Amino acid sequence: MVAAGILGTGAALPEKVITNHDLEKIVDTSDEWITSRTGIRERRQAGLHQTTSSLSVEASRKALEMAGLAPTDLDLIICSTISPDMPLPSTAAYIQQKLGARDCCSFDLAAACSGFLFGITVAEQFIRTGKAKHVLVIGAEILSRYVDYKDRATCVIFGDGVAAAVLGAVEPPSGMLAAEMHTNGAFSDHLYIPAGGVLKPASCETVRAREHYIKMRGNELFKVAVRSMEDVSRRVLEQAGVSAHQIDLFIPHQANQRITDAVRERLGVCAEKVYTNISRLGNTSSASIPICLDECVRSGRLRKGNLVLMAAFGAGVTWGAVLMRW
Ligand code: ACO
Repeated sequence: MVAAGILGTGAALPEKVITNHDLEKIVDTSDEWITSRTGIRERRQAGLHQTTSSLSVEASRKALEMAGLAPTDLDLIICSTISPDMPLPSTAAYIQQKLGARDCCSFDLAAACSGFLFGITVAEQFIRTGKAKHVLVIGAEILSRYVDYKDRATCVIFGDGVAAAVLGAVEPPSGMLAAEMHTNGAFSDHLYIPAGGVLKPASCETVRAREHYIKMRGNELFKVAVRSMEDVSRRVLEQAGVSAHQIDLFIPHQANQRITDAVRERLGVCAEKVYTNISRLGNTSSASIPICLDECVRSGRLRKGNLVLMAAFGAGVTWGAVLMRW
């Protein structure tokens, strides 16, 4: 069996910036509240001409270029998203076509903010067993289309963005060392969109009741997030026989700076080893970890041989972690 690793990364961000001061004009909030409670100062918002698949294609081209591969080299495309272009068909199908990939297996994965880590964990199985040589995993969200700009508890948090990674065989000791994925549906009512699905199909009534927007129990989620990210991080470190102080870089899902700080402290990772961009981009759900990865790779923060730990949690609730040697 071969080891699987990341050969290239790429990101695509909408140009439009929404600052906390912009939101102060829309809802009853303040820059001070948002900054002190979340660490967020601004976030991006896609224009109506931009779609989850169009930004994904932009990010994927950059990732393929870094990997030195062509779209036709891909054997599998996994698009992690909870904000697809349409309910049917998959956004991955559009990406495959727009990218000019061949008719390789392409599907969407719905695990909210944990989706990118779930995606690379799935990709690893295909690469290690020889079922696929090159897998494209994308974390893609345009959550601004699902955010209620009358709900101050959610509209300040989420932002839009996309990032992609191309995975393939790498020479040990590089590659994915340990990975875990978890789901607990008992907390499904902590973060959800009530209408627009089979349970509550779209109607004038559901639109009037604003039920097509994200509903969140932020306070309860906060506690689950800290506990689950700490626990799953410890588990992958233990599996790989690595201690927290040995890791070179910790990339947590960018949900809230206070969540990141709490997990970091509990794990005993020093602050300099933690990467955050939440102040600039907010919570971009499944795009948050791959955007961070891409920024770290392109800035030289992540170098060959480094040990990187990534941990996420999201709606479902889902949570997971991946430990990788770059
Ligand atoms: N501006 C001003 N006041 C606000 C705002 C706002 N934007 N939002 C909420 N408040 C108020 C509340 O109404 C409440 O007022 P009250 O005391 O008069 O009732 C007060 O602030 C405190 O509210 P809490 O919800 O307790 O505030 P908290 O400190 O927990 O912060 C937050 C809220 C930022 C949402 C936090 O709980 C959080 O980050 N939770 C995690 C959420 C998360 O990560 N979700 C994404 C999961 S990932 C995914 O899958 C997409």
